[in-house]
Amino acid sequence: MGVEICVEGLTKSFGHQVIWQDVSLTLPAGEVSVMLGPSGTGKSVFLKTLVGLLKPERGSITIQGRDLTKLRERDLYEVRKLFGVLFQDGALFGSMNLYDNIAFPLREHTRKSESEIRRIVLEKMDMVGLVGAERKLPGEISGGMRKRAGLARALVLDPEIILFDEPDSGLDPVRVAYLNQLIVDLNAQIDATFLIVTHDIASARLVPDNIGLLFRRELVMFGPREELLTSDEPVVRQFLHGRMQGPIGMAEEKDAAQVEQELAQIDDSAHVQERTPRLLPGPGVARPPRWEAIARREARLRQEEVAGA
Ligand SMILES: Nc1ncnc2c1ncn2[C@@H]1O[C@H](COP(=O)(O)OP(=O)(O)O)[C@@H](O)[C@H]1O
Ligand SMILES: [Mg+2]
Repeated sequence: MGVEICVEGLTKSFGHQVIWQDVSLTLPAGEVSVMLGPSGTGKSVFLKTLVGLLKPERGSITIQGRDLTKLRERDLYEVRKLFGVLFQDGALFGSMNLYDNIAFPLREHTRKSESEIRRIVLEKMDMVGLVGAERKLPGEISGGMRKRAGLARALVLDPEIILFDEPDSGLDPVRVAYLNQLIVDLNAQIDATFLIVTHDIASARLVPDNIGLLFRRELVMFGPREELLTSDEPVVRQFLHGRMQGPIGMAEEKDAAQVEQELAQIDDSAHVQERTPRLLPGPGVARPPRWEAIARREARLRQEEVAGA
């Protein structure tokens, strides 16, 4: 059912530039979490740090009792096998057809026979709706298909954790809707832990169990979707409603007086309680894993409520 990832006090800088500091959150096992944030806030850097491609200055990333930030390269290599990553553009090899692209991690990291590889590749291509496109080159297909091919490749090693870097960027709204449904269906089927980085508010409202928001070098908030979607925190509200009024400016940070004036002008009577239901798996997706996941999440939220009370 996926694994839990516990991040504590994580800080990442490049030279003197602090990207974000003191980030602490727990990605619950088997749940879908979304990390939101304006462009340039270090969302991609966060994903790369989680898989150990970038070293943080401080803090820990604990998975199955091991702190990734302390591991030697050889052990890190082992832990990385738990991860599947869908990079922003699919990161496919342009000269390889989709079949070979998707087979690549299996040929690289396992000793499976070509017939076994074939079975796995075709199974994953079927899961993401790419049957029949085996011989296509990345340059010959649409952006949406490239993302799905990248996703199939992220799935071949049966990861416990899947990280998505802006899976919806560059896609039209209809393709985004299909992709969101695919993500929810996949989560129900394989029950892995998902973290999706995006700045698409519509997807962030529909898809995840949990939402986080990075802004001005801090994790402003991370928690169950219901909590974030109804939050009164000014940054969270501005971002989730896509408003100009609030602490987030066009380029520069706004000064406090201006923010206060803007917030006073918002008609708060329009702020209704969040009722958008989470997107459910489509028909045909096996139900039991999702039911278990829902029950697990409800138990977790009850427990947190008790602990917080
Ligand atoms: N390898 C790197 N070396 C130096 N700076 C980097 C590197 N990678 C990212 N950055 C900087 O980190 C900041 C956050 O980048 P990024 O994670 O790509 O933002 P986001 O994905 O939220 O749009 C940017 O200012 C970027 O220039
Ligand atoms: Mg990015």
